[in-house]
Amino acid sequence: MEKITAIKGIKDILPQDSPAWNQIETAARRIFGDFGFREIRVPIMEKTELFKRSIGETTDIVEKEMYTFTDRDDELITLRPEATACVIRAYIEHNMHNYEQVTKLYTLGPMFRRERPQKGRFRQFHQINAEALGDEQPQCDAEIIFMLVNFLRFVGLNDFSLEINSLGCKYCRPTFSRDIVAHLSSVEKNLCTNCQRRIRTNPLRVFDCKVDSCGEVIANAPNILSYLCSHCDEHFKLVRTFLEDLKVSYTVNSKMVRGLDYYTKTAFEVTSSNLGAQNALAGGGRYDGLVSSLGGPNVTGIGFAVGMERLMASLPRKQEHDYQTDIFIAALCEKAQKIAFLLTNELRSSGIKAQTDYTAKSLKSQMKRADKLNSSYTLIIGDNELEDKKVQLRDMKAKNQISLPLDNLTEAIKNIFKEKS
Ligand code: HAM
Repeated sequence: MEKITAIKGIKDILPQDSPAWNQIETAARRIFGDFGFREIRVPIMEKTELFKRSIGETTDIVEKEMYTFTDRDDELITLRPEATACVIRAYIEHNMHNYEQVTKLYTLGPMFRRERPQKGRFRQFHQINAEALGDEQPQCDAEIIFMLVNFLRFVGLNDFSLEINSLGCKYCRPTFSRDIVAHLSSVEKNLCTNCQRRIRTNPLRVFDCKVDSCGEVIANAPNILSYLCSHCDEHFKLVRTFLEDLKVSYTVNSKMVRGLDYYTKTAFEVTSSNLGAQNALAGGGRYDGLVSSLGGPNVTGIGFAVGMERLMASLPRKQEHDYQTDIFIAALCEKAQKIAFLLTNELRSSGIKAQTDYTAKSLKSQMKRADKLNSSYTLIIGDNELEDKKVQLRDMKAKNQISLPLDNLTEAIKNIFKEKS
């Protein structure tokens, strides 16, 4: 029969990789918790309109990367391509602004974008996402970047760069956009056909284009930082000062605009040199108009998302044992199997990681299995042991063994583990 494989660009996370994923997620929960963030779990599917209105109709994500389908009642549904829009939808729907002036939320989980799969780029990928709502002060921007940097260092990433920029606000951005349109129009023929269209639909997106000739046009484009109004300029200066106070190294990149339309003021991106072409490990920024544009109150926000697959790929791989077993019960005959069945499950109920084998294989092959399962002890029960009413407990690391009476065996083993812990 032909086998059914996973969908292109969508990967399994295998048991040998899960411990490392869990460690990262635990670290995020701990560090974000220290900064006052609480976990929210939002749905994987939302109404398509949510992403159109927040990420922007003319972004690559919305134009060509969303998994959208019509539900049976004709409603347009999309698998979330990012989490920010979902978190804000939930924030508004549950009136969270009424409980606390500043709401800090984080969420972990899969996102879906129909991009061309390549190294570090998947169609289902995972993000760790943090959003702080209701604090418009530049300290908040510096603090959230500091939290991201702390987290990356904590999980063992040392080699990364942080770039920051300011994208202005609804008052100063239009002037910049007008001048960008003028600049791009004057050299339109040098742009790829996609960017020629973007001049009219979403000129800022030309900054993200990877085509060489478009890169040259952008190199000579007006600089967004010289268009900032005094409020945005002051905000950006203060963010930089606070980052310096917190000893966070960064570079300013005035060409970094991020691929989503909701950003205002501070934008930032973390890249890692050992990732290749898809080197953006994390990205985020301020989005002061997003909550109100989704029908919520006039509340400001800032956040970021870390790409789990890219983070995992840039961390040094620790060689850990796949399996961790406390005791393997080698049952060598049918009667021994009956004892092993009860014993294994009683030990498991007491928090001891016990394994056995019900096929009564030879002692040699069962010892091999115990090794494979990385077992600390192996308990040997065969015909001889049953006759003597004594079983052998082998310490697999020290390579010695003791006998234990068959009566009250469960208690005796439990006591051994109790003493060890
Ligand atoms: P983003 O830059 O689109 O931002 O994605 C954040 C991170 O997700 C990227 O830096 C990357 O590590 C990872 N990522 C994105 N697409 C893929 C993919 N196809 N395959 C593997 N990894 C990927 C956002 O999603 C914003 N919502 C971040 C944010 C939160 N801004 C404010 N709050």
